[in-house]
Amino acid sequence: MTTIIKQVEVIIIASKEKDLEDLVMNLSKSILDQKILKRLQEISPKEKKSILKQLGHNKLAPKEYDFDFGETHVKIGVISDSHYGNKHHDYFLEAKIFKEFKNKKVDFVIDAGDLLDGHDMHYGQFWEQSDVTFEGQKKDFLQHRPYIKGVKQYFVSGNHMYNGFDKKLGFNSGKNIADCRDDLEWLADAEADIKITSKYRIKVIHPNDGMNAYAISYKIQKKYEAMGKDAPDLLIVGHYHKAGFFPYLGGYLLLPGTTESQTSFQKGKGISVSMGGWIIDLYFKKNKELSRITAEFIVK
Ligand SMILES: [Fe+2]
Repeated sequence: MTTIIKQVEVIIIASKEKDLEDLVMNLSKSILDQKILKRLQEISPKEKKSILKQLGHNKLAPKEYDFDFGETHVKIGVISDSHYGNKHHDYFLEAKIFKEFKNKKVDFVIDAGDLLDGHDMHYGQFWEQSDVTFEGQKKDFLQHRPYIKGVKQYFVSGNHMYNGFDKKLGFNSGKNIADCRDDLEWLADAEADIKITSKYRIKVIHPNDGMNAYAISYKIQKKYEAMGKDAPDLLIVGHYHKAGFFPYLGGYLLLPGTTESQTSFQKGKGISVSMGGWIIDLYFKKNKELSRITAEFIVK
C-alpha cells in the first residue's frame, strides 16, 4: 500500500488537472492520508483514467467472465412432521406434495422427522389421535405415505418417535418402519448429514426443545450459529412445524413445514403451523461447489 501511495503521489505531482470522488473509490479505502486525498482532488477524469491504468487497477477485473460452469443438478423433495396417528394428519396435502415430487422428478426425498405421532407426548394427546399404538400408526403410515418407484425417502425419526415410542418401548421405531419398504431409509434418531458432493453437505435435524420462539427463524438461526465448523451448507430443521427458506452466514436454512394441521395442543400453546412441503434444486459447478439454489413451496 505504501508503494501505491507513493506512486500516486508522484503521478499526482506530475498532474495539474482536478477531480476526486471516483478516483478515491477506485483506489483504496485504506488511503486515509489527508494530504494525499487533497491532492487526489486535483485530478481530472482523463488523468484519473491514466493514473488507474498506470497503477494497474484494471488487472483486478478480467475482461471476460466464464459463466460456463458445466452445472450438475440435484432435485430434492423435503417434507416433515407428518404425525401419522394424529387426527390432524392431512392425507390430501401429503398426497399432493408427493404428486409434485413425482411430476417434477425429484432425485430423492428428505423427511425431517415425526413421521408418526408417538404416544403420551403431552397431556391430552390421546384424545386427538386416530390410533395410539405403534403398530396402528405404522400401518397407517405404510398404507398412506406415497411411494415413488426408484425414489428413496431418507428420514430421521424425530422426538415423537424416539421419545414417543423408542424410549418407552425399548426399540427403534424408525428402523422398524424403514425395514418394511424399499424406498424408506432410516438415517438416525435426531441428526444426520447427507453429502451431496465432496463440497456440499446437508444436515437434517429434529430437536426436542420447545416449539415456540419470538420469531419463526430464531431457533434455526441460533442452532446454525452454535454449530461452528460443523455448520452444513444447507441446514434442515424439523419439529417446529414452520416453513421458511433463506440464506444465512454463507449457508442456507430450511424450515420444512408440516402436513399436520393445527392441533388443540399447539393452539393452546400459541404455536402456529405452516403446512406444506418443498422442492429444492441444487446446481453445482464443475468444482462441486454450489452455483445456484432454488426453493419451491408446495401448499394445499
Ligand atoms: Fe412434530
